Amino acid sequence: MIRTCILILLVCLMGCGKPSPEDRPIRPSKIMDFDTLFAQRCAGCHGTDGAGSGSIALHDPTLMNIISRETLHDLVKNGRPGTLMPSFQSNTGNPLTDAQIEILVDGMMQRWSEDAPPWATDRRYEVQQGKATRGKGAFVHMCGQCHGNDGLGASAGSVINPAFLELVSAQYLRTVILCGRPELGMPQLAGKIEDQTIDDIVAWLRTHKTFRSDQ
Ligand code: HEC
Ligand code: HEC
Repeated sequence: MIRTCILILLVCLMGCGKPSPEDRPIRPSKIMDFDTLFAQRCAGCHGTDGAGSGSIALHDPTLMNIISRETLHDLVKNGRPGTLMPSFQSNTGNPLTDAQIEILVDGMMQRWSEDAPPWATDRRYEVQQGKATRGKGAFVHMCGQCHGNDGLGASAGSVINPAFLELVSAQYLRTVILCGRPELGMPQLAGKIEDQTIDDIVAWLRTHKTFRSDQ
């Protein structure tokens, strides 16, 4: 009798509580659904559905048209060293597989690149060397009304705070000038500003960094 009880108990332990295959949690490396991947890996910093949050919006036809597929792929894979944008390949313990990175890149480009303004595709994405002295004048002209002519802030905040400049790359500053942070009230300037002028302004902003590095 006791033996039968133990047997039943064992069978129960082994079988009864077992979740059906559909209920079992999927291993992180097997998730192949764009929405789930984006929500789990990107939304925390770039907002639900890419609408922008701590960092820039990705649900933005201008950004999705000026950035190349290769650059976007590299960025997700390797992150941007020296900034808070993490590498998802070397994300120890829980990396994204190549196939998952492809799903993310394709998904963003397909879903969020439509209805781009006509000039979006002509813009240069990559930041290049600019001239800080020219950038200062351009800043007063194009940015001063909101950020103050000295960049210390007016209706919008300071953009020359060394702590802020340490955290962001030159490329990010260029992207923000092109694409704005519309969800925060920073307008998109792509189409209204020359590529060289953007690089000049970025160079001027970065003269306020306390520690010089090339990131
Ligand atoms: C119409 C007003 C306006 C203009 C013009 C403007 N900005 Fe902004 N900018 C904002 C607002 C609002 C924010 C949101 C944060 C804040 O309030 O400081 C912002 C944020 C930023 C940020 C921070 C982005 C981030 O992700 O943290 C940078 C850098 C910046 N602006 C640079 C510039 C530069 C450079 C120019 C000129 C080329 C410019 N802005 C023109 C209003 C403006
Ligand atoms: C921990 C916060 C964080 C997470 C998570 C994150 N990002 Fe980022 N991302 C950032 C920051 C911060 C930047 C700006 C880095 C810089 O200064 O260059 C950035 C920049 C970017 C840019 C480039 C914007 C530019 O400078 O042109 C893209 C595209 C991007 N992230 C995509 C993604 C995708 C896709 C994911 C999810 C796989 C992701 N990010 C997850 C913080 C994050």
